[in-house]
Amino acid sequence: MKELVRKNILKVNAYIAGKPIEETKRQLGLKDVIKLASNENPLGPSPKAVAAIRKTASGVNRYPDSQGFYLKKKLAKALEIKPENIVLGNGSDELIDIIIKTFVEDDENIVTADTTFLEYEIIAGVNNRKVTKVPLRYFKYDLESIKKNIDKQTKLIFIANPNNPTGTYVTKFELDDFLRGLPDHCLVVLDEAYDAFIDVNDFPNMFNGFKNKKIILLKTFSKSYGLAGLRIGYAVLNEELAGYMERVRQPFNTNLLAQAGAMAAIEDREFLRKTRRIVLEGKDYLYGNLKKLGLAYVPSVANFILIDVGQDGVELFNKMLRFGVIVREMKQYGLKNFIRVTIGTKKENERFVKVLKKILRGKERP
Ligand SMILES: Cc1ncc(COP(=O)(O)O)c(C=O)c1O
Repeated sequence: MKELVRKNILKVNAYIAGKPIEETKRQLGLKDVIKLASNENPLGPSPKAVAAIRKTASGVNRYPDSQGFYLKKKLAKALEIKPENIVLGNGSDELIDIIIKTFVEDDENIVTADTTFLEYEIIAGVNNRKVTKVPLRYFKYDLESIKKNIDKQTKLIFIANPNNPTGTYVTKFELDDFLRGLPDHCLVVLDEAYDAFIDVNDFPNMFNGFKNKKIILLKTFSKSYGLAGLRIGYAVLNEELAGYMERVRQPFNTNLLAQAGAMAAIEDREFLRKTRRIVLEGKDYLYGNLKKLGLAYVPSVANFILIDVGQDGVELFNKMLRFGVIVREMKQYGLKNFIRVTIGTKKENERFVKVLKKILRGKERP
């Protein structure tokens, strides 16, 4: 059957998502399972978003507004930009695809880091575009080396800031330095999926810089707003370039409920504050306990922590599953002795630590 498939697709590795709770319950016969694997919001969705979705549900016989007029208007007001600077997407995943389709010619390439969010490489592969992956330095994007790897055919540079799966970030100073003297034929995508969790002062704020045509910001409602299941995100960029992306996206790529949920979520400042507090408190708790267990971890500014477990991460992941705790093993990312854990509620974090302790002390099964 292979001969029927486009050659570039034969080379693509499908994305392996975090293991779902229901699947784990079914496969292992468990009743009580927690998921700390996909950097989701442990508090659930914003209650205001849920109320708006309920209210809107009776209208799903109609197509959604293909322009997302009200959502863009609300976002533009909150961000002090124009609605024309925004392109809505079915999650930022879809925007990555739209960006590549809009900007990268057949013979042009994309530069990103190794290791970073896997979708950049996967979606580029599906679109038959070449990707150069530049190794991280001390788990951080190495912008100097990335710059050296840019050639005449480089069109896009993907920077996850903060980076997934390391939780590290590029500072304002480093980014400014990188952007200075960047060739005019390059566009830089700053994927800021985890920006709401930042607890440092030198993180770049690019809401002014994007008007400079070299930058595309990617934002999502999946993490801090707790709307991963709705699938909605947006890109912020130069108005003219946004217009070209609008030609590429499907007319109804963001659905009716997603638009309504996102609009309500933007208003829910209290939910955002609570989410941030839970994540920052949880991070301190986990750091403290990892230290006690003698495990090394990468300090994170996001809502997850990359942990060096000093043994095969896949095996540890499987053992944790039997205790009903889903974390993320890092084999697909090439990080054999690591797991990535999403910061959960206090109760979830405590359970994670308890199970990890048991396994490290040799207990294999509940
Ligand atoms: C860096 C990064 N970008 C984008 C995404 C995808 O976000 P969305 O749910 O909006 O597609 C993720 C999800 O894990 C991510 O880690």
